[in-house]
Amino acid sequence: MKGNGDGLRWLTAAGMLTWLLLWAAGPVQAYPDAMPDGAYFDRGTDGCLMCHGPDSQWPGHDILDTVHGVRGDARTPFAEGQRACESCHGPSADHVVGRREDGGRPATAIAFSAEEPAALKDAPCLACHQADTGHHWQGSAHQFEDVACTDCHQVHPRQDRVMARLTQAEVCSDCHRRTRSEFLRPSTHPVRSGSMVCTDCHAPHGSIAPGELLRGTLNESCYECHAEYRGPFLWEHAPVAEDCSSCHEPHGSSHRNLLSRRSPWMCQECHQAQFHPSTVESGLGVPPRGASRQVLGRDCLNCHTQVHGSNHPSGAGLIR
Ligand code: HEC
Ligand code: HEC
Ligand code: HEC
Ligand code: HEC
Ligand code: HEC
Ligand code: HEC
Ligand code: HEC
Ligand code: HEC
Ligand code: HEC
Ligand code: HEC
Repeated sequence: MKGNGDGLRWLTAAGMLTWLLLWAAGPVQAYPDAMPDGAYFDRGTDGCLMCHGPDSQWPGHDILDTVHGVRGDARTPFAEGQRACESCHGPSADHVVGRREDGGRPATAIAFSAEEPAALKDAPCLACHQADTGHHWQGSAHQFEDVACTDCHQVHPRQDRVMARLTQAEVCSDCHRRTRSEFLRPSTHPVRSGSMVCTDCHAPHGSIAPGELLRGTLNESCYECHAEYRGPFLWEHAPVAEDCSSCHEPHGSSHRNLLSRRSPWMCQECHQAQFHPSTVESGLGVPPRGASRQVLGRDCLNCHTQVHGSNHPSGAGLIR
């Protein structure tokens, strides 16, 4: 018993020492995750196509018609000196010659199935695409939630749906159901028609901004296309410069102009007792004359037309 206790203490000490050494060596580089160990079949494309050609029940040749299949490009999986199919499917000699106990064929080292961990499926992709995916992939919402490269990308078909503007949103919407329903509302950014895509605003491989936005802040994302609201304005409307989403939904809304709530109620959330009556309850208004005028005659925007800010010398009230 005593011996065991000592051993345990020794192990703990050794563990701490290792930890200290690792800590001293600096942050552990987690990517690229290593490819799995195992023997490569290494018979090139033809070796695999013996069984996975066009006539096969499980064809795999279609990848040769994509950017990955360009043999003349030294960087692709099928270039001289690369591992062809096994660049992605990993060392798979066992798949060809081995037998499982039940007589079945062992899967390839990486079969890109739903059961495999995302880090395993991402390893071959990152071996070539570390730079393309950028610094923010690791720790991004998708990486953190085990969404693999191949949950978005398809590499065998000639057209990768997530790369084409018309089909990208469908791929994203498979998982983002709520976002999809937002884009079905009456007022939306024109994503359904394909003239805009999710990645006009979002960085699919991660970013430092909240909500994986492409630009540093929400407003910066909007200014990218709506530069006229960047200002500076002589008379600024504080919430505009602060956060467009205090009044607008980015995806879709049941109110016109992507407004998150209908005015005058939207305005009244922040503006209660003004010098002129701004709620139904406040009846006796001095300029300009009474509640019904302000609240019920279309709404605040009838007079306060410059809701994003004004450059008129006397535009302080955002009415000109
Ligand atoms: C001797 C025939 C044969 C050869 C050679 C062969 N496969 Fe297969 N492969 C199959 C069969 C049969 C299946 C169908 C399902 C099964 O039995 O697992 C399959 C399934 C697959 C699958 C689907 C799922 C899985 O099991 O991983 C992939 C991917 C695959 N093969 C890749 C390859 C690659 C890459 C090579 C070359 C290294 C290769 N195959 C060589 C017969 C072969
Ligand atoms: C660039 C990486 C890559 C290369 C290279 C590659 N594959 Fe695949 N393969 C995948 C991925 C990812 C999948 C999972 C399905 C998908 O995303 O399209 C897959 C799926 C498969 C499947 C299963 C198809 C099915 O219907 O389930 C077969 C078979 C296959 N590959 C064979 C091959 C063969 C044969 C080659 C070489 C000619 C090859 N692959 C080269 C990435 C690759
Ligand atoms: C052996 C290196 C290699 C591997 C492994 C590899 N790729 Fe690629 N990939 C390339 C090259 C080279 C290109 C072409 C790049 C270019 O033209 O700039 C490319 C292009 C792409 C593109 C852009 C396609 C387009 O239509 O422009 C995507 C997306 C992509 N790869 C995803 C993947 C994914 C996902 C995996 C893992 C399943 C993977 N790649 C594995 C080398 C590789
Ligand atoms: C959430 C979906 C998603 C995931 C997950 C994802 N991608 Fe992408 N990827 C995209 C989209 C969308 C584009 C097109 C970019 C654009 O339109 O700006 C893209 C573009 C690319 C490109 C083309 C070069 C470029 O940057 O435009 C490569 C290469 C690529 N992705 C590789 C990867 C790899 C490797 C992984 C995994 C580490 C990965 N992607 C994970 C959605 C995704
Ligand atoms: C006009 C720019 C824009 C477009 C286009 C866009 N988004 Fe967003 N999205 C945003 C903004 C802004 C946020 C809020 C970010 C924050 O502050 O957290 C957001 C938030 C999200 C969120 C986080 C949950 C939520 O609703 O707050 C998801 C998921 C999302 N978007 C997915 C998508 C998908 C999928 C598409 C394409 C179908 C898409 N977005 C298109 C701007 C956009
Ligand atoms: C396989 C499922 C899947 C696909 C496909 C997918 N996502 Fe996601 N996405 C997730 C998960 C899981 C999260 C993290 C949990 C969450 O915030 O919903 C996430 C998070 C996000 C976020 C950050 C949300 C936040 O609150 O910060 C945005 C933005 C986003 N995804 C956009 C996209 C876009 C754009 C695409 C298509 C190019 C896409 N996603 C494709 C599963 C997916
Ligand atoms: C990639 C360009 C782009 C970005 C980024 C962008 N928008 Fe837009 N926005 C558009 C386009 C295109 C329209 C549609 C114009 C049309 O239909 O005439 C639009 C329309 C609108 C409308 C009017 C909607 C309607 O029903 O007529 C509002 C409000 C709006 N955007 C707010 C925003 C906000 C807030 C952001 C930041 C979260 C943003 N936009 C980011 C391109 C963009
Ligand atoms: C205080 C609330 C509020 C804020 C904050 C706000 N908006 Fe608006 N926005 C409105 C209202 C109200 C309308 C409708 C105007 C109308 O009907 O005359 C509108 C309309 C729009 C339109 C469509 C009309 C047009 O001119 O094409 C765009 C685009 C727009 N806003 C972009 C933005 C952007 C970008 C931001 C952030 C920089 C922003 N808004 C911040 C209230 C706001
Ligand atoms: C998110 C809160 C918010 C919303 C929503 C909002 N405002 Fe404002 N508004 C402010 C703030 C903060 C100021 C600056 C007040 C100050 O400087 O004392 C301001 C200033 C103003 C001013 C100038 C008054 C002054 O004292 O300089 C007018 C006019 C105005 N808002 C009208 C509107 C109208 C009309 C709407 C609806 C379309 C609206 N606001 C929606 C927060 C908001
Ligand atoms: C019939 C036109 C009209 C309507 C409708 C109207 N306002 Fe005004 N409002 C004005 C005028 C005129 C001023 C004074 C502007 C100036 O000083 O330049 C003013 C001033 C303001 C101010 C600045 C008050 C201050 O203390 O300086 C705010 C805030 C304001 N309105 C909010 C609202 C809100 C919220 C609504 C909707 C509930 C609304 N207004 C509806 C005409 C109107």
